[in-house]
This record gives sequence, C-alpha cells and structure tokens, in this order.
Amino acid sequence: MTTLTLRRPDDWHLHLRDGAMLEGVLPETARHFARAIIMPNLVPPVVRSTDAQAYRDRIDAALPAGMTFTPLMTLYLTEDSDPDDFATAYESGVINAVKLYPAGATTNSASGVRDFDKVRPVLERMAEIGLTLCVHGEVTDPDIDIFDREAVFIDRVLDPIRRATPGLRVTMEHITTSDAVDYVTDTAGHIGATITTHHLMINRNHMLVGGIRPHYYCLPVVKRATHQQALRKAAVSGNPRFFLGTDSAPHTDDNKETACGCAGVFSASNTMACLAHVFEEEGALDKLEGFASLFGPAHYGLEPNVETITLERSDEAIPYPAKIETGAGPVTLFDPGHPLHWRVLD
Ligand code: DOR
Ligand code: ZN
Repeated sequence: MTTLTLRRPDDWHLHLRDGAMLEGVLPETARHFARAIIMPNLVPPVVRSTDAQAYRDRIDAALPAGMTFTPLMTLYLTEDSDPDDFATAYESGVINAVKLYPAGATTNSASGVRDFDKVRPVLERMAEIGLTLCVHGEVTDPDIDIFDREAVFIDRVLDPIRRATPGLRVTMEHITTSDAVDYVTDTAGHIGATITTHHLMINRNHMLVGGIRPHYYCLPVVKRATHQQALRKAAVSGNPRFFLGTDSAPHTDDNKETACGCAGVFSASNTMACLAHVFEEEGALDKLEGFASLFGPAHYGLEPNVETITLERSDEAIPYPAKIETGAGPVTLFDPGHPLHWRVLD
C-alpha cells in the first residue's frame, strides 16, 4: 500500500450545467476539488455579470450540506460583450476569467465570436486589468480537417490576438496537440494551458478501433498517439504553464449514445485516481501536486489550497461506478479501459 498526500486540487476547467444535472454532478467535483473554473456555455449562455452572479448562487444552493466548494465564475465572450460590465464583474470578484468560444466550435457556442475584430475593445480592457482569457482553441472553418483545427487556430487566431494585445493573460484550454504544447512552452508572455484527464489517457485509436466509443468523443477531439505522448510529457514536466482542467462535461447517455452524439467526457468522479495512474506510469508521482494543485492557482494569481487530500494505491483494482444517476438522467463516467488502483481517502 502506498499513499500520496497533496494540497487539495482545483479543476481549472469544468462544466457543471444547471438544474437537475448541476445537482447530480456538483458533489462529484466537490468531493475532491476545492475550486473550479466554471464554464459559461449554458443555454442561454452566461454573458453578463448579473448572469454570472445568479449562476454562482444556483451552484452554491445546489451544494449538499457539509461540502465546501468555491466556484470561480467565467463570462462568455460575445461580439456584444460590454468591456465595462466585464471589468466591474472582475473588480468586484464575481468572475475570475472570460471564455472565448469561436462561434460553432462546440456545445452551445453559437453565441461565440465570428469576427475577432469585434472583441478587440474587450480584450484590450482585459489586458489592462489583468483579466484572463480562457480560449477554446479550434478554428471552425469547414475546410479545415477536425484533427487540424487546434494547430491552425494557434497560427491564424491565437498568435495574432496575443501579438495585437500585449499583456493579455491567456489560458489555452484543453490542449490536445504537440503544436499547442510547443506554443505554450516556447512563447513569451502570460500564457498557460489546461490538460484534461482523458487526453492524457486516450488517443483516437481508443475512440475508433474495434467500434466507435461515444463516451470518448469530446472537443477538441482526441488526436493521434504522438500528440497524447506530448501531452503526457508536458503534464509531468513540472513546467508550471501546464495544469489540470478536467473539462468534465456531462451529457446524459441518451444524448451521447445516438446517431449524432454530443461532445463531452464526464470524468469528475475518478479524475484523481486516473491522474495518479498516469503520473505513476510516467514515474512522476512527485509532479502530480504541481499539476493538480499548485500551478493553476499560480497562473490565476491565487493561493494554493491549505487543506490536503491523500491518495492510496492498492494492489487490487478499485471499482468505480459505470455511471452516475442524476435527476436529468444517467451520465456515464470516463472509463480509461483498464483497472485503476488509486482512490482518494475520505
Ligand atoms: O467535449 C466538449 N464538451 N468540449 C467542449 O468544448 C464543450 C463541452 C460541453 O459543454 O459539453
Ligand atoms: Zn469545456
């Protein structure tokens, strides 16, 4: 038996949804994580500071008695976003970041940005006040192959935005390619990247060989194994620009297991066990605390959590539920396809 004690982790990219789904999934995150950056792609999206405040209140109300959890709210950037409203939301502590979805890139992104010139004033204001832009980094051009959309986004959109807006703090979300690892490693300025649990554990073969596995389908879509290897190397490198954002994104099974299934992997419940597995395989368990608990707060200018959690490794496989039941319907939990031997002690 081995144990590993870390500062309590945070999740720097999380979808909690709303209503019955929120109630169902929130305890799965709050059990292990102290804080999370909450994605604003609700229907309708969280676009104004009053929306973020109201959503934060609904999250607080959904938290079961006895649990503690701090949602770090984001606002959804649209071509109509008001720089003053964003600045007020940030300066009054309502939000910690702003989310950029290119229009049409993913779930509920229709209100996102088509013309990046239209959001210049907001980005400039954000750079002035130190408000972080979280970026869904994929172009939506139908001519660009879905497996190339992240790499093309870096060249055509992200790098030009960063050059035009010196000082803008950027989180490149859920990176999936060696191109993104290289960009984040080598570029100057305040930039970090989140990496999901599932992108460390699966590549496109896992999703497509021997049958199509809808519960492995997410956006940005998992890439070839060489990219997965680059992500693993970045995650265990100890480079503080790379940290955990699970992108745990629940959809009910009937919305995943269908002819046109939704994108999203739900991994909140077993993420820490999965990460311990990956870091152990990489011979880098000593790097897990930085990735899951230290580098994210540093990127966002926050203190790490004071409390700790302890992970325990057993020789026997630890059973995790195949799905969790929510008031909105069953949600399948990420299954890496092999036994897990780690669990978080209560
Ligand atoms: O797989 C994904 N699911 N990627 C996203 O960018 C959005 C998310 C969701 O909201 O379901
Ligand atoms: Zn997401």
